Amino acid sequence: MADDLCSFVKDFFITKAPKKSPLLWRMIVLVFAMVCGVYICSICLKQISTSTKTEFLDIQVIEKPCPEPNIEPREIPYVHYPKPKTYSRAECACNPVRYFAIFSLQRSGSGWFETLLNNHTNISSNGEIFSVKVRRSNISTIVETLDKLYNLDWISSASKNECTAAVGLKWMLNQGLMQNHEQIVEYFRTRGVSAIFLFRRNLLRRMISLLANQYDKDAKLLNGTHKSHVHSPHEAEILAKYKPTINSTLLMHDLRKVEETTNKALEYFKNTRHMVLYYEDVVKNRTKLMDVQDFLKVPQRDLKSRQVRIHKGSLSNQIDNWNDVKKTLTRTQYESFLHADN
Ligand SMILES: *[C@@H]1O[C@H](CO)[C@@H](O)[C@H](O)[C@H]1NC(C)=O
Ligand SMILES: *[C@@H]1O[C@H](CO)[C@@H](O)[C@H](O)[C@H]1NC(C)=O
Ligand SMILES: *[C@@H]1O[C@H](CO)[C@@H](O)[C@H](O)[C@H]1NC(C)=O
Ligand SMILES: *[C@@H]1O[C@H](CO)[C@@H](O)[C@H](O)[C@H]1NC(C)=O
Ligand SMILES: *[C@@H]1O[C@H](CO)[C@@H](O)[C@H](O)[C@H]1NC(C)=O
Ligand SMILES: *[C@@H]1O[C@H](CO)[C@@H](O)[C@H](O)[C@H]1NC(C)=O
Repeated sequence: MADDLCSFVKDFFITKAPKKSPLLWRMIVLVFAMVCGVYICSICLKQISTSTKTEFLDIQVIEKPCPEPNIEPREIPYVHYPKPKTYSRAECACNPVRYFAIFSLQRSGSGWFETLLNNHTNISSNGEIFSVKVRRSNISTIVETLDKLYNLDWISSASKNECTAAVGLKWMLNQGLMQNHEQIVEYFRTRGVSAIFLFRRNLLRRMISLLANQYDKDAKLLNGTHKSHVHSPHEAEILAKYKPTINSTLLMHDLRKVEETTNKALEYFKNTRHMVLYYEDVVKNRTKLMDVQDFLKVPQRDLKSRQVRIHKGSLSNQIDNWNDVKKTLTRTQYESFLHADN
């Protein structure tokens, strides 16, 4: 059609060209020629743009490294394909990875829980990374640390092979988590990180463990070395021999404060994908560990830990001033702590 239009203009010029005002006619011809040229160009451009578009699509398909995982759309933000700077994930480059953080308090069974997770071939939980103060100085250092961890560039004894399917850390509430909660919630939202809350129901037993562990830092009951976790019943027995004295004046206040902190943390992270676990339930019911593996979307395994529990049995044998403590807590909301056997 473009050709037709052009030949029409040519014919018109040849047949009708008068000699009266050649300038005018030349102008008309020029305008026609220009219209004709623009028309041809526009057709050509259209063809070029569609062909580059398809080329672009082809390139995208080729460059996309991993096939779409077969998951529900709401799961997509939680699935990642990290490319570590320090090594290649090799044949596991397309194994999806989930990001998690265990939120807990000291002496709540999180060390034991973490050894259970790390017994899974595909889980890498890298310990209390933020116990080192400089890493939690401000939100920039926190983000930098988390980026490195979730990119699978954090090398620790918990690092697995290239086929890690869930990577995370153990993060105590008092390690910069509560102070920077707004930015951390945002980081978790944008990066698709899930949280596992691990708390202890019996806060009195937790207090005993805390005091005993503090005492051992100086006393070093095990052949002159301080140990927070042990691997033999014999070692557990030695550590459990120490019976702390609990300040009964402060007891109610201290218990309430712990409860407040945990409630606040749950409130801050209520919109983060999370699950809540209690140490006592995991001890009694191993199905809880299957729930955790489902939550992290890793294949279910029977998980083992070599750690041995330090304090067990009746509480009356574990506290030096048992009668004071008993009197303080009787007929309060914490009375059940005295009787619970876990
Ligand atoms: C899990 O624990 C068992 C028993 O202690 C051990 O044989 C196995 O090597 C552990 N697996 C991993 C991945 O740590
Ligand atoms: C778990 O790790 C093994 C090898 O270590 C690998 O073959 C497997 O694909 C991994 N599973 C997932 C779900 O990534
Ligand atoms: C954050 O802390 C690090 C290490 O303490 C420091 O070098 C850096 O300047 C701090 N950044 C901000 C924004 O405060
Ligand atoms: C302390 O050392 C002795 C001798 O080396 C050893 O027999 C014992 O098992 C050790 N005890 C603990 C609790 O490690
Ligand atoms: C308990 O703590 C309070 C406040 O810190 C202190 O005044 C009191 O002496 C302590 N009581 C005992 C028995 O240590
Ligand atoms: C153990 O945990 C599972 C899953 O969390 C729960 O359905 C089950 O009722 C629990 N069993 C007992 C005996 O508490």
